[in-house]
Amino acid sequence: MRIGVLTSGGDAPGMNACIRSLVKTGAGRGHVVVGIERGYAGLIDGTAKELGLADVDGISRRGGTMLGSARCKDMMTSAGQARAAEHIAALGLDGLVVIGGNGSLTGAHVLASRADVTAPIVGVPASIDNDLGCTSLAIGVDTALNTIVEACDRISDTASAHRRVFIVEVMGRQCGYLAMRAGIAAEADCILYAEKHISEDELVIKLRALIRMSFADARAKRRVLIVKAEGVRVPTSRLVERLNVHLEEDAPGVDIRETVLGHVVRGGAPSVTDRVIAQRLGFAALQVIEDGVSDVMVGWEPAGGVGDKTDDHSIRRVPLTTVLEETARLLDGTSPVTQGRLRLLAQVEGLLAL
Ligand code: F6P
Repeated sequence: MRIGVLTSGGDAPGMNACIRSLVKTGAGRGHVVVGIERGYAGLIDGTAKELGLADVDGISRRGGTMLGSARCKDMMTSAGQARAAEHIAALGLDGLVVIGGNGSLTGAHVLASRADVTAPIVGVPASIDNDLGCTSLAIGVDTALNTIVEACDRISDTASAHRRVFIVEVMGRQCGYLAMRAGIAAEADCILYAEKHISEDELVIKLRALIRMSFADARAKRRVLIVKAEGVRVPTSRLVERLNVHLEEDAPGVDIRETVLGHVVRGGAPSVTDRVIAQRLGFAALQVIEDGVSDVMVGWEPAGGVGDKTDDHSIRRVPLTTVLEETARLLDGTSPVTQGRLRLLAQVEGLLAL
């Protein structure tokens, strides 16, 4: 078989390990793997090349994606989708693996639903945000968490030296997962996430109380770490500005600073967990194509055991429609997974600043 692979949307550490797994297992099982460059943009203009074992040697340890990625606006148009479908045929593909997040998997579903696409299309979840339904982890999440915690630890060193308050903003789009998990691991005093729907004024009141309590005379606290998800609408600089106005009154002698980690969170060598997940998902995706199954995602330990079992006990095949519906619920807060995350955090939230 000729199996195409593309990486799309925001890159995620571990994408390369997934590509390597496809190329290696593909070669071992007599297939040719075709790498499509720059995500759907490459599929639309037909930029692709066959990948040999030498091409993927040593790539598992590298962040980013060797194929390049893009947020492709053309793929949202019917003309772009038709061109993508034409190139699946022109490249002689018997299957296509799409590695990416919400938008990428939406594109995969659109292609799989077309009458002129007969090749099976399979999605592999990859997004540092962990905002995808039907997979407990997406490729890149674990590395991003480790990067955030390492950055917060470094910031804690300097914050403690100066008795400072730090607000550290982390990526995650609308999803607070990275802030929640990394905040706990980094011993944050407070975690701010959009799912809580707090107004700007309420935020300021809450943080002023935290600062007052933390630097009260009787306490030997040397730093306050606030981890803020980027989904929280109030800009971090504005929050700092507003807290600064009262700082001399709330905590005399204490300073406040901000760090927006931004794209630092998305780069770097993938963690062991991300490499392992990526490789196993890649192998499972190849088997889906061999079985001639289309319009599914291979999910890592999906909540509720949704989907069909695979040879890998941690991976299930879930229809892309189910994935996309559950992703929407995850983002609007009605998913039991989001509610579970919020419940868990609510139980310890009052304890963080003690
Ligand atoms: O979806 C991954 C992500 O890194 C988000 O956390 C972030 O909001 C967004 O992508 C940034 O996208 P871009 O690199 O296109 O600015």
